[in-house]
Amino acid sequence: MPAPDMETLTSLAKRKGFVYPSSDIYGGFGSTWDYGPLGTELIRNVKDAWWRKTVLVRNDVVGLNASILMHPRVWEVSGHIENFKDPLVECPTCRRRYRQDDVSNMHCPHDEDLLTDPRMFNTMFKTYVGPVEDDASVAYLRPETAQSTYVNFKNVLDSSRVRIPFGVAQIGKSFRNEITTGNFIFRSREFEQMELQYFVAPGEDDEAHERWIETRFTWWTDLGVDTQRLRLRSHDADELAHYAKATTDIEYEFPFGWGELEGIANRTDFDLRRHAEASGTDLAYFDESTKSHIVPFVIEPAAGVDRAALAFLADAYTEESIEGRDRVVLKLHPSLAPFKISVFPLARNKAPLVKLATQVAEDLRSRWPVFYDETGSIGRRYARQDEAGTPFAVTVDYESLDNFSVTVRDRDTMEQQRIAIADLEQHFATLLTT
Ligand code: GAP
Repeated sequence: MPAPDMETLTSLAKRKGFVYPSSDIYGGFGSTWDYGPLGTELIRNVKDAWWRKTVLVRNDVVGLNASILMHPRVWEVSGHIENFKDPLVECPTCRRRYRQDDVSNMHCPHDEDLLTDPRMFNTMFKTYVGPVEDDASVAYLRPETAQSTYVNFKNVLDSSRVRIPFGVAQIGKSFRNEITTGNFIFRSREFEQMELQYFVAPGEDDEAHERWIETRFTWWTDLGVDTQRLRLRSHDADELAHYAKATTDIEYEFPFGWGELEGIANRTDFDLRRHAEASGTDLAYFDESTKSHIVPFVIEPAAGVDRAALAFLADAYTEESIEGRDRVVLKLHPSLAPFKISVFPLARNKAPLVKLATQVAEDLRSRWPVFYDETGSIGRRYARQDEAGTPFAVTVDYESLDNFSVTVRDRDTMEQQRIAIADLEQHFATLLTT
């Protein structure tokens, strides 16, 4: 059985150290979240998996790591100041505020009163740079990483040997002053994005768009997400962002319903053209093959780290009953699991077992994240690691002291195999990527 509801996931996430409410001891702070020890590893693994597939194994994508604060002109020129707005409606009685598309029939979900007419609310966070808080010092926390790629387009062209088609990938924090947040880490005000701007010649954009939709869908399924809970959804004309000619979302069926994991947009030459005009910098690309200058079109796969973490957790969460015993197990793909291997001595009061288990853990730790645990019954220790998503458990028992072998338990099948300690590294090398 998958995750039955969000409360179950939220409480497991807190109990196991995946995600805590931010500023917890002060009662939390408006839908901001902190990743605990296991969550930190999970999102590192999500980002690594994205980076590996999007940048490292390709020869046409380079990386960028730009600052969050940018020249305020960027957001005027990109159209965000004018267009990055959500329709806000308010209940005159309870004063609760909602995004219009989050409520049905214009009535307050809390007390059924008729809501006010919508007014547009810009969701960019404003701040001031320097000691004086006046109009001249206004800056914005970026609501997407993409703009910094466009304004660095010439820098990347001039400093690397990229040739069209090529991409610039970036992972980083973005901020949106969302009117309504909720559903745990699905929609928050501070989140992380994994975005690729893929530059192609005009005319080749539609085909590249299709290719990226396919490539990105495969990324999710390769990491074990159930295809039954994934779908593609094309934006209707009236929901397209101001810069997009076409967008297809990859959606996941969360316990609360279908939600967007990632959008793959055809942004045309909108951003490069606008920044070229406004800055006076030539952002055209000289195409050697046609000996002409072109302004590339952009295909943008843009995914959220936090939504990815939530989807991977929801999808991995399994309640099962085997031979009359109930368990909760996170069947995370091994490359996403925070710890890959746990190591236990069968009993903690037997010094030779502890000594050998410590040594085994130490040796494996040089290649993989290993969790060592000697407290509680062995059944309890397995259960704890099942809930943490650790794919393999190594137990050092009395037989280990005689013949230097250990048992290796598989998280999903719970089957155990006896393996010589000398063969452990090779054994895991075939099952785990480093
Ligand atoms: N640069 C294009 C762009 O930002 P988007 O569809 O607005 O497109 C891309 O955002 C992804 O960022 C979304 O698919 C989602 O995964 C994530 N995202 C957007 N807003 C979010 C929020 N408030 N909380 C968490 N993730 C968010």
